[in-house]
Amino acid sequence: MARSRVTVRASAKVNLSLCVGGVRADGFHPLETVFQAVDLYDDVVVTPAAELEVVLRGEGEGTVGVGPDNLAWRAAKVLAERAGIAPHVRIELDKRIPVAGGMAGGSADAAGALVACDALWELGLTRAELLELAASLGSDVPFSVAGGTELGRGRGDQLTTVLTRGTLHWVFAMSDDGLSTPAVYREYDRLRPDAGEPRVDPALLAALAAGDPTGVARGLVNDLQAAALSLQPRLAKVLRAGTEAGALAGIVSGSGPTCAFLVRSVDHGLSVSNELQASGLVTRTVRATGPARGAHVVAVEG
Ligand code: C5P
Repeated sequence: MARSRVTVRASAKVNLSLCVGGVRADGFHPLETVFQAVDLYDDVVVTPAAELEVVLRGEGEGTVGVGPDNLAWRAAKVLAERAGIAPHVRIELDKRIPVAGGMAGGSADAAGALVACDALWELGLTRAELLELAASLGSDVPFSVAGGTELGRGRGDQLTTVLTRGTLHWVFAMSDDGLSTPAVYREYDRLRPDAGEPRVDPALLAALAAGDPTGVARGLVNDLQAAALSLQPRLAKVLRAGTEAGALAGIVSGSGPTCAFLVRSVDHGLSVSNELQASGLVTRTVRATGPARGAHVVAVEG
């Protein structure tokens, strides 16, 4: 019997190291980056429908488009095309990942929709096939399928698993105004016309393998941070407030404006988060741990 409802959970990400080279002829930037999935997630629920439709609740409700530009819509469409079937599915996005926050919320929805529709339509695509489709949807979508901790090369879509030990504890400081990823990259080009080969520091990979949060904190780096701060100068104050509150380190997450603070434990995270809120610089904080799983099925009916 055909399946009647599939629920998939899809995680947000933070880049522990985001090394960016000079812009390529195709407009993308060569990257070497370490992604980590964290347990802040969107739920994607798919059910058969008369036509393709996207319904969105939570973060981005009323502002994020639910038509053909929505990445989850595009994911269902490319998967159906590949399978030679009609994309007749209703996709409900229950969003907790901030929109335009540098945490790959849109990519998580695309990865979630791919995995959910694959299960609903019982297509049985291999992981390699899913990753290939994911790359056609966006640079971060393959990582959102994979989850865990991965080294990304190319435009971030070529993945190699990174060995990690233990759990990292994070506090994220959200912003009310998002940043456009292309705008941040353009600002990066302006600030760094001489950008060289992107290289992740092997010391970060060693600290991850050893389960050494202090070493990981020393290795956190984001080449896009100066560009994000140039577009939203107040983020410098948020970063300072987090380290003054005792975080091991703080960086802008991806293209921002979310700021990510590495902390030692759940309790340490609570205290950093309370101090950040008391600073008056941050309206919302979220605590999360990594690594978390990539997009995965949590319920199937029918
Ligand atoms: O791949 P995705 O659609 O998520 O990329 C959004 C934008 O981010 C691209 O249009 C490009 O401006 C920028 N980008 C980039 N280099 C990358 C990834 C993204 O310049 N490696």
